Amino acid sequence: MTRITVDLGPRSYGIEIGPNLLESLGEKVSEVAPATRCALITDESVGAIYGTSAQESLERAGYRVERIAVGAGETSKRLSVVGAVYDQMAAARLERKSPVIALGGGVVGDLAGFVAATYLRGTPFIQVPTTLLAQVDSSVGGKVGVNLPAGKNLVGAFYQPKLVLCDLDTLQSLPEREYRAGLAEVIKYGIIEDVALFESLEAQTRRLNERSMDYLAPVIRRCCEIKASVAQRDEREGGLRQILNFGHTIGHAIEAVAGYGGVFARRGDLDRHGQSGGPIRKTHGV
Ligand code: GLY
Repeated sequence: MTRITVDLGPRSYGIEIGPNLLESLGEKVSEVAPATRCALITDESVGAIYGTSAQESLERAGYRVERIAVGAGETSKRLSVVGAVYDQMAAARLERKSPVIALGGGVVGDLAGFVAATYLRGTPFIQVPTTLLAQVDSSVGGKVGVNLPAGKNLVGAFYQPKLVLCDLDTLQSLPEREYRAGLAEVIKYGIIEDVALFESLEAQTRRLNERSMDYLAPVIRRCCEIKASVAQRDEREGGLRQILNFGHTIGHAIEAVAGYGGVFARRGDLDRHGQSGGPIRKTHGV
């Protein structure tokens, strides 16, 4: 296991990267957010694979776990889903000290983070990203939020997690298309900040495509270091942090034109991510 610190004064936190970290999730959460109850927010796809082991780990650490599963896919990133999650949390009598744990990809992390930022005016938030994209980008840096019919990520907050736990084993179950989406973010870091990383990615495509953990682990670490370094210097995107949006702006435009998962996605991907299209017409922000 390797650990990076995101240095933001009182909002500092660690990113832990390694295999088999879900096993010790409860122990790690109790170090940063001791409480009697917690919310474990996931989606139906990720929950079916990792939900039980995450829940059992939290229970071993003494938490009473309220497990909340949203539908898989971008359509869950909306205010009506946020409202339903608040209702379930209130019914379970979750308190201000109760941590909210996001187990999943970017949609779950953004949604759960927004819930954590706003439920009872803020509860401790833990990111457990299970996609490559979420491990190298969306789980780090504190951007949380949901979409509006008028556009993507139009409502949100900068709300830093207390801990990011990247269990590398979860990458083995990622559909190929989602893995490649994460690789695009990895390549981004090479382009915006690290020529040696970019050249290494070019030279090691076979190991990348094989998801060789020996190769991926230091690559993920390097991406998180770059992200942490930018977020530390410009937490609220006054200027520098915009560099992290490199490729996102065009990507969001393509997403909008394609109806959020319609034109370019294959059937199997839609089964995992859910069909969007819906009312979201325009992209804006990242
Ligand atoms: N995903 C871009 C950022 O966190 O700033």
